[in-house]
Amino acid sequence: MTSAVSQSTRKSPPATGRLDVRRIREDFPILDTKVNGRPLVYLDNAATAQKPRIVLEAMDRYYREQNANVHRGVHHLSVVATKAYEDARLRVQRFIGAECPQEIVFVRSATEAINLVAQSYGRPRLRAGDEIVISAMEHHSNIVPWQMLCGQTGAILRVAPIDDAGELMLDGYEALLGPRTRLVSLCYVSNALGTINPVGEAMELAHARGIPVMLDGAQAAPHLRLDVRALDCEFLAITGHKLFGPTGIGVLYGKRSLLEAMEPYQGGGDMIKSVTFEKTEYNDLPHKFEAGTPNIAGTIGLAAAIDYVERIGLEAVAAYEDGLLRRATEVLSAIPQVRIIGTARHKAAVVSFVVDCAHAHDVGTVLDLEGIAVRTGHHCAQPVMDRFGVPATARASMAFYNTMEEIDALADGVRKVVKMFG
Ligand code: ALA
Repeated sequence: MTSAVSQSTRKSPPATGRLDVRRIREDFPILDTKVNGRPLVYLDNAATAQKPRIVLEAMDRYYREQNANVHRGVHHLSVVATKAYEDARLRVQRFIGAECPQEIVFVRSATEAINLVAQSYGRPRLRAGDEIVISAMEHHSNIVPWQMLCGQTGAILRVAPIDDAGELMLDGYEALLGPRTRLVSLCYVSNALGTINPVGEAMELAHARGIPVMLDGAQAAPHLRLDVRALDCEFLAITGHKLFGPTGIGVLYGKRSLLEAMEPYQGGGDMIKSVTFEKTEYNDLPHKFEAGTPNIAGTIGLAAAIDYVERIGLEAVAAYEDGLLRRATEVLSAIPQVRIIGTARHKAAVVSFVVDCAHAHDVGTVLDLEGIAVRTGHHCAQPVMDRFGVPATARASMAFYNTMEEIDALADGVRKVVKMFG
């Protein structure tokens, strides 16, 4: 029996230099859905992306034909499931350019990856008065775990400023890097603003002072190629569900030497070599960080999603999405009552906006009546809303299966909002 991963590879779309969006859309069954009698226009990809058929099929096949626990049995199905699980790890390793599979830890989300670093790397190392630097555009998942760590250790959280366009102010960031800075943690792409951060420069500044850097790559992975060796980050967090894979699966990448030196923060089955009531010897990397039965189907779905994205080509995706971003920026800017929040020079395909006559939730509700899904609210980034002095925004976030017609439908919907509330 071949693994679910290698089977799904065979079903990936043919690699092409350009995107055949009509063909790609056929791979996503949910895109045929009607909402309120209208064809679904799904522009909430930063919250979660839709899943191509090969992901659904790989997971279905696993549960129908291969279901067993991993690393725990000599029987056939357990061997098959273990191979599929470890093949998925190799797939992720290749996708992000890690040196070895030991550097790939499966977790349930990017959030869990950040919490793992906070607790396993940060907690034993940080002392009162040490500092952690983040930016003012972070998602709550890259704020709260560090606040918790500060509460536990007496460390101090420092926040690098962003300007009115939503760009990281590198001078302000550099000014925060001092002798007590123990870690920097930055998002590569802001979920609320779409800003693509100059992480190369930010990391150089940190590394020049011997400070390790964690990147939150949750919003970057669907849009940009992440190569951890080229980036040279110490830690990277990604999540499966924004990358066209299932929910409940994420990845922590860590440099091997750092992961080796870290203690696990969760105990349980599979993360041990031996246990007595007196003493436990932990398992080798990466298993020492994977306590309990993992999300096996999730890893198989994630590997299938990575295959799918790779076959389309992230470079082609980035070029196509840039066109969507330009169009969305242009058509929304043309509506006088609309203000775009986040106008950085380098952006992923995310447009946050406010309509001056309507609350973001009203915008979302009217758009929903048109079959258009956008996220409204603070986007798990309340400090970003505070920075821009707005309670909430509406956010359209695009993926490679969106079309220019859908962007125009969004603009039509927003004009309807203006008509109703203006
Ligand atoms: N972090 C996700 C978002 O930006 C849920 O919507």
